[in-house]
Amino acid sequence: MTRLYVHEVVTRDGFQIEPRFIPTEQKIAVIDALSQAGLHKIEVTSFVSPKAVPALADAEAVMAGIKRNPKVKYVALVANPRGAERALAANVDEIVMVVSVSESHNRANVRRSTDQSFAGFAEIMQAIRGTGVGTACGMATTFGCPFEGFQKPERIYAFAQRLADLGIGAIGLADTVGMGNPKQVLEISREVARRLSQVELALHLHNTRGMGLANVVAGLDAGITHYESSLGGLGGCPFAPGATGNICTEDLVHMLESMGHDTGIDLDRLIRTARGLPELVGHDVPGQVMKAGKSTDLHPLPADTR
Ligand code: COA
Ligand code: ZN
Repeated sequence: MTRLYVHEVVTRDGFQIEPRFIPTEQKIAVIDALSQAGLHKIEVTSFVSPKAVPALADAEAVMAGIKRNPKVKYVALVANPRGAERALAANVDEIVMVVSVSESHNRANVRRSTDQSFAGFAEIMQAIRGTGVGTACGMATTFGCPFEGFQKPERIYAFAQRLADLGIGAIGLADTVGMGNPKQVLEISREVARRLSQVELALHLHNTRGMGLANVVAGLDAGITHYESSLGGLGGCPFAPGATGNICTEDLVHMLESMGHDTGIDLDRLIRTARGLPELVGHDVPGQVMKAGKSTDLHPLPADTR
C-alpha cells in the first residue's frame, strides 16, 4: 500500500474560470470544509492581476478568513514577483509559480516569454529565502499545448532542470488542456523523476479528453505520489482555448482507495462538500462519485425481484 498525497485546487483552478463570482465567505467555507478532509495541500487562491482573473480578486481576504489546520499546507499561485510579495504578506505556506513549457501558452497566460518568467522566479526565490515558506512551480502545457501541440520531451526535461537549479522544492507537471495520454505521461513522468530525485513531483491533470484518471494510473506506474485535483471536477485555465475541468478529487480518491492505496482522506466528507458545489457555482459539475455514490454503497434488491 503506497501513501499518496492529494493537493486540492478547486478554489484556485476551479473557481478561476467560473463566470459567476463566488462570494469570499463561500470560498472560505469550502476551504474550511476541505481543511478537515485529510488533504496534503490546499491551493487556496492566486495572487495574480485582478484584471486577468477577476474571479480571484479577493485573494487576501480569502487567505485571512480561513481557519488553518496545521496538518495542511495552504499554498497559492503567483505569476510574477509582485504576486509573490502579496502571497508572502498573506502568510501562505508555499508559493506556487507557473511557467508554460510552450512559449505561446506562456505568452497567452502571463504575457511574457518563458525566459522572462524564469528571471522573475530567480527574483521570487531571493525574496523567499530565509522566510521558511516553501516553493513549487507548475509546468503548464507539459503534456500538450492548445496552440503548439505536443512539446519536445527534451524541452520539458530542460525546464524541470532549470526549476530545480533555482532551488524550487516541488514541480507539478501539468496537462493544462487534457491532451496527455497514459503512455506519454508514464514516459515523461518517469524520466523527470529519474533526473530530479530530490524534487517533490506532482501531476496536475485535466480531464478534458477523458484521459485524466487513466493518466493517474500511468503516474502511479512512474512512481508519482502527489496528485493535484479539483473537487467536483471543476477547473480550467482561462487563457487556454477549450480548457475544462481538472481530474475530480473525490473520483480520484475513490479510485486510489479502491485500488488499495492510502490517501489519508475522509472520502465521505469530500463527497458531502462536493454535493454543495452545483448550487454554489450555479451549474452541474463533472464529478461522478458524488452522483453515483461509492462502489461500496450497495442498493437493496427490489422486493419484487425473484
Ligand atoms: N497582483 C495584482 N495586480 C497585478 C499583479 C499582481 N501580481 N501583477 C500585475 N498587476 C497589475 C498591474 O498593477 C497593472 O494594473 P493597472 O493596469 O491598474 O496598472 C496590471 O496588472 C497589468 O500589469 P503588467 O505588469 O503590465 O502585467 P501584464 O498585463 O503584462 O500581465 C500578469 C501580466 C502576469 C500580471 C497577468 O498576465 C496575470 O496576472 N496573469 C494571470 C495568469 C493566471 O492566473 N492564469 C491562470 C492560472 S495558470
Ligand atoms: Zn490546471
